[in-house]
Amino acid sequence: MKTQVVIVGAGPAGLLLSEILHRHGVESIVLERSSREHVLARIRAGVLESTTVDVLRENGLSTRMDVEGHPHDGMRIAWAGRDSFLVDTYQTLGRRFMVYGQTAIQEDLFAAADRRGQAVLTEVSDVLLHQHDGAPGAKPYVTYVRDGQAGRIDCDFIAGCDGFHGVSRRSIPEAVRREYEKVYPFGWLGVMARVKPLPDITYVNNPRGFALASYRNQQLSRFYIQVPLDHKVEDWPDDRFWPELKARFPAEMAAAITETDTIEKSIAPLRSFVSEPMRYGALFLCGDAAHIVPPTGAKGLNLAVSDVYYLSKALARWYRSGDAVWLDGYSATALRRVWSSVRTSWYLTTLLHRFPDTSEFDQKAQEYELDYLKHSARAQAALAEQYAGLALEKAD
Ligand code: APR
Ligand code: PHB
Repeated sequence: MKTQVVIVGAGPAGLLLSEILHRHGVESIVLERSSREHVLARIRAGVLESTTVDVLRENGLSTRMDVEGHPHDGMRIAWAGRDSFLVDTYQTLGRRFMVYGQTAIQEDLFAAADRRGQAVLTEVSDVLLHQHDGAPGAKPYVTYVRDGQAGRIDCDFIAGCDGFHGVSRRSIPEAVRREYEKVYPFGWLGVMARVKPLPDITYVNNPRGFALASYRNQQLSRFYIQVPLDHKVEDWPDDRFWPELKARFPAEMAAAITETDTIEKSIAPLRSFVSEPMRYGALFLCGDAAHIVPPTGAKGLNLAVSDVYYLSKALARWYRSGDAVWLDGYSATALRRVWSSVRTSWYLTTLLHRFPDTSEFDQKAQEYELDYLKHSARAQAALAEQYAGLALEKAD
C-alpha cells in the first residue's frame, strides 16, 4: 500500500490528525494496535481548553460536543478547614472551558472517520518504522502484521501518535533523544458514579490527601482521590471509598455528595515526561508518544490537540507549496506549549497533593501559596490563564 502520511495510533491524536489532514486534501492510513472497542472503552479526563474546543469546531467535530458538553466558567480550589475559592476563567479572560469526556471525543472521531471512509487498520501488531531518518534518498515505510498477514505501507511522512508505550518514540535513536521525567510518589484512584455532580470542578488539598470532583453530565460524576502507589482497586471497596472521599471535602460539599454504587474504578500513577525533539527525519511525534502530564489540570488531551494542530498545518503547507518551514519548526513550536502545560500540571500537582516526605516547612509554604492564590486576583488570573489554556501560535 501507499499513502502520504502513515499515522501510528488511533487515540485522539491519531484520529484527529487524520481528520484535519483529510480536510486539507492529504491522505493517511491509521494503524492501531488495539480493537476499536478497546480504544472506545478507555476512560480519561474530560476538560477541554477553549483552544481545543476551537480546533474541534473548526474541523466539524463539535456537533455533539455543543449539545452534550458543559461550558464552565471556572474551577474551584478547596483546602482543609478554609473557604474554597473559584478560579474564574470567564471573568478574568472572557474564556470558558468545556466539560466533555475524552471517551465521547473518541467516539466522535471514529464516527467522523467512518463517514469519510478513512482507512483505520485496527488490531495490527509488530508495527516497525523504516527509512524514517531523513537521510538523502530515504523512502520511509511502515511494516506491520494483521490477521497473520505481513503488510507494508510506503509514505512520505510518519506521525507517531501511539501513546507513551508505542513504538514511534523508541524509533528515534537514543543518542538523538533527550528525556525529562518526574515520577510522583502517589497515584489517583478514579471512580465514576451516577450521582449529581458538585456545581464546580473542585480540587481539594487535605491532610488526608488530594481529592477532585468532576463530572461527565448532570447525572454522572467523576471523583478522584490520591492513594499510595502500592494500593490496588481491590483495596478500595465502595464502603471505604465514599467515607474517605467525603472526609477530604469541606463539610458542606461532602454533604452534597450522594453515595451510590460506583460504576468504574481504576488507579493510575502520576508522571511528568517529555521526550525531545518531537521530530526525527520523516517521523513526527504527537500527544502521549512524546509527553505525559499528571492529570491535575487535565492537560493531556489538550496537548495532543495542539500538537496535531501544528503538525497538520505544517504538513498541509508542505503538500500545498513544498515549503518545509513549519515542518522544520514543528518540534520547537509544539514543545513551547508542551513545556508550558507540563509546568502547569506539575505546579498544580505540587500545590494540591500531600507528599509523603514533605517537611513542615514545605507544608507551610504550600498552605501559604494557597492562601496567596485565594486572596490575590492577579495570582488567580495567572492560574486561570494556564487552566483555560494558552492561545495557539497562529500558523497562518
Ligand atoms: N502500534 C499501533 N498502535 C499503537 C502502538 C503500536 N505499537 N502502541 C500504541 N498504540 C495505540 C494505542 O493502542 C492507543 O490507541 O496508540 C494509541 C495512542 O492513544 P492514546 O494513548 O490515547 O494517546 P494520544 O492519542 O496521544 O492521546 C493523548 O489521551 O492517552 C490519553 O491521557 C492521554 O489525554 C491524553 C490523550
Ligand atoms: C475528569 O473529569 O476526569 C478530570 C477533570 C479535571 C482533571 C482531571 C480529570 O484535572
